Parts: sequence; C-alpha cells; structure tokens
Amino acid sequence: MKKIVILISGRGSNMRSVVEAKIAGAKIAAVISNCADAAGLLWADQQGIHTQVVSHQEYRHRHDFDQALMRAIDAYAPDLVLLAGFMRILGSEFCQHYAGRLINIHPSLLPAFAGLNTHQRALDSGCRIAGCTVHFVTPDLDNGPIIAQAVVPVQDEDNAQTLAARVLQAEHRLLPQVVADFVADRLRIDGLRVHGSRVAQSCLSEGFYF
Ligand code: GRF
Repeated sequence: MKKIVILISGRGSNMRSVVEAKIAGAKIAAVISNCADAAGLLWADQQGIHTQVVSHQEYRHRHDFDQALMRAIDAYAPDLVLLAGFMRILGSEFCQHYAGRLINIHPSLLPAFAGLNTHQRALDSGCRIAGCTVHFVTPDLDNGPIIAQAVVPVQDEDNAQTLAARVLQAEHRLLPQVVADFVADRLRIDGLRVHGSRVAQSCLSEGFYF
C-alpha cells in the first residue's frame, strides 16, 4: 500500500478527485494545508482522513515554514507527496528531500505559462489550446519532468473563468490517472522526460486539432 500526503491551500477539488478515485494500492495518509480555512480540509475531515494545518503565517522565514511542513509530512512516512492546489513556493531543500516522490498539478500546458494567472495569460497570448500538466517537482519552479498533460480548446467567447472551469474538469480526470500510474510504479524519470505513463499511451497518436 502506497501512502499519499496531499497538500492543498483552498477548495481542494483536485484532492477530492484523487480521494474519490479510490485508487487501488493507495492510501490517503493525510491532507495538509497552509491555510486553516481551506475548504478542502473540512471535506477531507468528513471523509475520515487525517487533516493538519501548517500555517505559513506562523513563520517569518520561508525556510522555517518548509522545515515545519517537512516534519508534518514525514510523520506520515509518505511514498508520494501531492501538491494539489498548494499555493506556496517550496524551497530547494524541500524539493530535494522529496525528489522523485513530489508531484504537482499546474493549470497550463507547461513549459508555457509557469507561475500564476495562467488562463488569462493563455487568452492574452491568443492560444487556441489550453490545458494542464502533472509533473514531478524540482527546485526549478514549474519546470520538473512532465508526466502527463491534458488539452482543452479555447473558445472565442472564453474569459479566464470559463477557461479555468474547462481546464479544471481536465485536471480532475488527469490527476487520479497519474497518481494511479505512480502507485503502480509505472513511471520512470529520464532527464526531463517521464516514461511509462498510461495516460500518455492512451492518447490518439494523430493528435487533436483546435
Ligand atoms: C487548480 O487549478 C490547480 O491546478 C491550481 O490551483 C487550482 C486549485 O484548485 N494550482 P483546487 O483547490 O484543486 O480546487
């Protein structure tokens, strides 16, 4: 059984998609948030999952927050730490400590639009496609080895909210599949490439056109 700790900062809908997928061989050991009022914490608690708050506001220095977070996470001895809408930048010591077992979901087709405001930036750039990326986390922000991506079309009438909602649906489908691939030991990191993802193998080789 692989133990998973999920980090969230707010709504927690991606966390919920992973929990509800009931992935064989996976146990959600805990959901931890840097925000005490994260709505997702309440939901996780109602499912009987351990929840915990490590508030960044209690630490003046980023490094001290990272250390406290690591202590909280390591108490569960997780095989995988999942950043599912976790809105704090984590330092290199943190990322190295969890190297190969730290996964993030990002709401853009990386390497385009790392960072924040991804949907508005995609619209402002005139993109006809948008999407999301699940990747291993390295100290290089939003630039770790990509495991899988999902693509959605940009519609003429889209604004940042409508595009975000469409991408979010894709996130909810993509993330549990990637976690299942990780739990089944299918993923192999090769530089910035990741081999073995069943998500990628299930795509049409002819591509999609928007
Ligand atoms: C998602 O779009 C995620 O990709 C981004 O923040 C959002 C979090 O949503 N990092 P939720 O908390 O999972 O509902």
